Amino acid sequence: MNLNPALAPTDQPTDQPAPQPAPQPAPPASAFAETVTMVRHYTDRLFMFRMTRPPSFRFRSGEFVMIGLPGEKPVWRAYSIASPAWDEEIEFFSIKVPDGPLTALLQKIQPGDTVWMKKKPTGTLVIDALLPGRRLYMFSTGTGVAPFASLIREPETYEKFEQVILTHTCRDVAELKYGEEIVAAAKADELVGEEATAKLIHLPAATREPYVRSQRITTMIETGALFAELGVAPLSPHTDRAMICGSIEMTRDIKALCEAAGMVEGANSAPGHFVVERAFVG
Ligand code: A2P
Repeated sequence: MNLNPALAPTDQPTDQPAPQPAPQPAPPASAFAETVTMVRHYTDRLFMFRMTRPPSFRFRSGEFVMIGLPGEKPVWRAYSIASPAWDEEIEFFSIKVPDGPLTALLQKIQPGDTVWMKKKPTGTLVIDALLPGRRLYMFSTGTGVAPFASLIREPETYEKFEQVILTHTCRDVAELKYGEEIVAAAKADELVGEEATAKLIHLPAATREPYVRSQRITTMIETGALFAELGVAPLSPHTDRAMICGSIEMTRDIKALCEAAGMVEGANSAPGHFVVERAFVG
């Protein structure tokens, strides 16, 4: 056995030049190239990462942006920005799809790696797309909590609403961890902590494991269990506003429940009682 590191095979003199990292392709003119600063894995299906923020990049809390990895033909996917508009960095919360065209690679990123981000953010989960109201519901499943991670750290959310209710429904308890962390961060935040502590109610639920709440949010709305727990009247266009982000089925079903309550969908150009966005999937 060779215990002398000086004689380890990899240290032996060689005529070969040291391998150089492959040169990074330049991003297209429509994109920024940013550096990953932090990665945290929650489960085998979920992770978050943070990266540097280009000084010229402006967005509204709740918007999404296209991201991709450096390459000749990058795969671009829409990601909700999970950090608030005032944050120095950009945060994303992502699913890992084993054979997903982007996430199969994205889930392997490390601090120091480069991620491309398109320069134009967009989206309808913004406070401006809602009419004034008293109570704001944020209905999310899975990674659909990401835009709300941004909005619960946004001062305007608390300026405009007396009560903010974040529901986050996942299959398993471990998938609720990121939501718990961002709620705790909002309540401890220098800027919004006091308001968040007074106004923000977090209602996590796990549907496939024993937990304090284990029903789908649609069931909780239909049976009234949600409103009984909150001690408030059922959804009403007079008092309530809603933002919805989750799977195709979940957004479709909650939209139908909002409409059944007499609420009208809003957009940037025509604010309404609720707005919808599908969470990134793939
Ligand atoms: P369930 O476990 O009963 O399917 P997914 O990972 O499939 O997107 O699901 C995330 C969470 O959203 C799960 O708790 C799931 O509940 C719930 N869910 C899935 N479809 C709907 C729907 N149409 N309405 C409300 N919740 C849903």
